[in-house]
Amino acid sequence: MNTILNSIMILVMSLTVQAQLKTGFYSASCPTAETIVRSTVGSYFNKDPTIAPGLLRLHFHDCFVQGCDGSILIVGSSAERNALPNLGLRGFEVIDDAKSQLEAICPGAVSCADILALAARDAVDLSDGPSWEVPTGRRDGRSSLSSQASNMPSPLDSVSVQKQKFAAKGLDDHDLVTLVGAHTIGQTECRFFSYRLYNFTTSGNADPTMNLSLLAQLEALCPKNGDGLRRVVLDKDSGAKFDVNFFKNVGDGNGVLESDQRLWEDSSTRRLVQSYGGKIRGLLGLRFDFEFPKAMIKLSSVEVKSGVEGEIRKVCSKFN
Ligand code: HEM
Ligand SMILES: *[C@@H]1O[C@H](CO)[C@@H](O)[C@H](O)[C@H]1NC(C)=O
Ligand SMILES: *[C@@H]1O[C@H](CO)[C@@H](O)[C@H](O)[C@H]1NC(C)=O
Repeated sequence: MNTILNSIMILVMSLTVQAQLKTGFYSASCPTAETIVRSTVGSYFNKDPTIAPGLLRLHFHDCFVQGCDGSILIVGSSAERNALPNLGLRGFEVIDDAKSQLEAICPGAVSCADILALAARDAVDLSDGPSWEVPTGRRDGRSSLSSQASNMPSPLDSVSVQKQKFAAKGLDDHDLVTLVGAHTIGQTECRFFSYRLYNFTTSGNADPTMNLSLLAQLEALCPKNGDGLRRVVLDKDSGAKFDVNFFKNVGDGNGVLESDQRLWEDSSTRRLVQSYGGKIRGLLGLRFDFEFPKAMIKLSSVEVKSGVEGEIRKVCSKFN
């Protein structure tokens, strides 16, 4: 009896979760919503393609702190945006621009949280990655606190800590490896990994898991005591294209962030890295461009607000 009740509960719960968001949520209230977000992202991308990774990361950081509710966009001294892990975020002006166009044609209809989710999808598509239908209907949150951002993953995290932080958001180990594949585009500041070059072991040596040719390259780009804010690509030789080269790199010791490289050193995550990188052939090889959209839809649904919760902001950087 209990097991039957349990199954029914789980079914009802999953239906409720699915009912919160749906694709084409704006088809009546603002039919051009998705087109406007797409054209806005496209015009910024044409001027500067590095805006694409900025937008993808912005959505991830929004979702990991009190859910995908646009709270990352709020400006204020104690707001999420000012938390340490969020300081390098980019792309706010793209979201603000799309929002002001949308307010002009469908006032009060489209949430900032949805604009973030749509822009992340468009950013991946424009970078030669896969595309997908984004379930929409998110509402914007009414609080944003930097103190809540302490659970963000750190580039120093072990695989088990990475897994724990994703599990806390309902994302499993498969989602973790798949979503970290977002590092196939974009850059990191030297300060997030330079300890791997100069101060990894107690005797001050480099991280022994780093490929020696990458080590030489990074030492040249990020000299000891140099500018920690200098940016280098996360995916050596393929930094702007959304492809599986990132996974090949991790398999070759060419992961730039320690957290990325650890996905190879740990046997529990190595297999999937191998599979995406094309090193396991045959029917079981999982395709990154098929798995990434599924994982993104899960990430985009983390702790969303819907129905009458929250609000639809008029300006993304301010509560109504
Ligand atoms: C264990 C999990 C993760 C860690 C520790 C991590 C850490 C980092 C760090 C340190 C940077 C460099 C930031 C900078 O210097 O400005 C970065 C960049 C980036 N991250 Fe992650 N990340 C993780 C997961 C993710 C996920 C799940 C996504 C998206 C689905 C993502 C997307 C990106 C993108 C696209 C960039 C490049 C940003 C740019 O070029 O502006 N990351 N990440
Ligand atoms: C080197 O690493 C140690 C231990 O992590 C740390 O205490 C020390 O401040 C670091 N030195 C430099 C120069 O960054
Ligand atoms: C180092 O990286 C190169 C590709 O850049 C790769 O061919 C080589 O096998 C890697 N070396 C090791 C020890 O993994």
